[in-house]
Amino acid sequence: MDRIVIRGGRQLNGTVRIESAKNAVLPILAACILSRGECLLHGIPPLHDVFTISQLLMRLGVAVRTERPGLLRIHTPDVIQTEAPYDLVRKMRASVLVMGPLLTRFGVAKVPLPGGCAIGNRPVDLHLKGFQSLGADIEIKHGFIQASAERLYGARIYLDYPSHTATENIMMAAVLAEGTTYIENAAEEPEIVDVANFLNSMGARITGAGTKVIRIEGVRELGGTEYACIPDRIEAGTYLVAAAISRGDVTLTNVITEHLKPVIAKLQEAGAEFEGRNGTIRVIARERLRSVDVKTLPYPGFPTDMQAQMMSLMCVTEGISIVTETVFENRFLHVEELKRMGADIRIEGPSAIVRGVERLYGAPVKATDLRAGASLVLAGLVAEGQTDIFGVGHVDRGYVNIVGKLQALGADISRVNT
Ligand code: UD1
Repeated sequence: MDRIVIRGGRQLNGTVRIESAKNAVLPILAACILSRGECLLHGIPPLHDVFTISQLLMRLGVAVRTERPGLLRIHTPDVIQTEAPYDLVRKMRASVLVMGPLLTRFGVAKVPLPGGCAIGNRPVDLHLKGFQSLGADIEIKHGFIQASAERLYGARIYLDYPSHTATENIMMAAVLAEGTTYIENAAEEPEIVDVANFLNSMGARITGAGTKVIRIEGVRELGGTEYACIPDRIEAGTYLVAAAISRGDVTLTNVITEHLKPVIAKLQEAGAEFEGRNGTIRVIARERLRSVDVKTLPYPGFPTDMQAQMMSLMCVTEGISIVTETVFENRFLHVEELKRMGADIRIEGPSAIVRGVERLYGAPVKATDLRAGASLVLAGLVAEGQTDIFGVGHVDRGYVNIVGKLQALGADISRVNT
């Protein structure tokens, strides 16, 4: 069992390159099911979640070939399996993203109901309502969801909540439907725009992605394409916080600054300085930063996927900060672990009240989910003494070589097998 060992107190300096966005790569790999031609995807990061979805595609009968590291060639034949295996879906909720593509191209999709999730109740009702509006029959039996339809038809779909993956799943289903679909109150995350651009590069007709209303004009079939996904704004945000928490000076390359606006705005409010040009951004934080209040919201609000990391920073800033989580109901699992390192945090309903302390102290701690794991790594960077982080598998789901990248920036961090 691996753990990450950090001896805190080193200032981070240097340059780090950001990978392609996990949350764009996953739906885009699923979207390859829609294409009759070959899809060549560049810059695919070697993340555990990416391996899981690639395995899932292969189990369905999709040909996924790694041409060289980061370059995938994918081809979906005319006949494949349409039932997603439970052992892979239970590893990763995002597996549900194969449902829209399978349903619209093959007329049927059977996917296990995603089970419980550490960060709260995560239903897929909005995905299913969307498919039903397009004309699919949905049946839930023996732990599986089965969706079927001879043909899908364009419809107006209003999402009760701008769910990120529901927007993508419905958009993917609608590209081969007959007629025009409008998704209203759609999620506006940059990854959704990336998926739409990918689909359009295969011949889909989507406009409005990145706004509240997405219009999808159905087409008969989609062809092959070559594509590179956008950079990961959450990985980037995590390194911005790493620089800020260590009072360092770090430059990120391969970033889209616009996508980082909500995170940069908060770090600036806390006192960090930024310089950016041509796909790079430099963050400088020489002084102890000030506390700021943070409230998570769908994009362009502050991302829930950065809440835990930001909280680690607030643990050591000057003053009191209120961190409010509005997207997920139980996304404070890192709080108890941060408290074990000396953080002063009190939870009141959906908010955590964080009183900045002078110092955190290294301790053995456990990552309970991906971003909680990242927040513990960040806390370990400033904690006095040694922090041992267990549950590293969670971190591997979303960060490529976080240990090597932080080492290169000057952190005293290693990965050990116990
Ligand atoms: C995606 C991201 C995840 C991020 C989240 C919120 C991927 C693969 N994952 O997850 O990293 O944390 O967006 O930005 O892109 N909901 C329903 N019914 C549904 C779907 C969602 O009630 O059918 C609720 C959820 O319970 C949650 C909220 O909507 O409270 C937001 O979830 P959603 O936007 O769907 O998150 P995901 O798409 O699962």
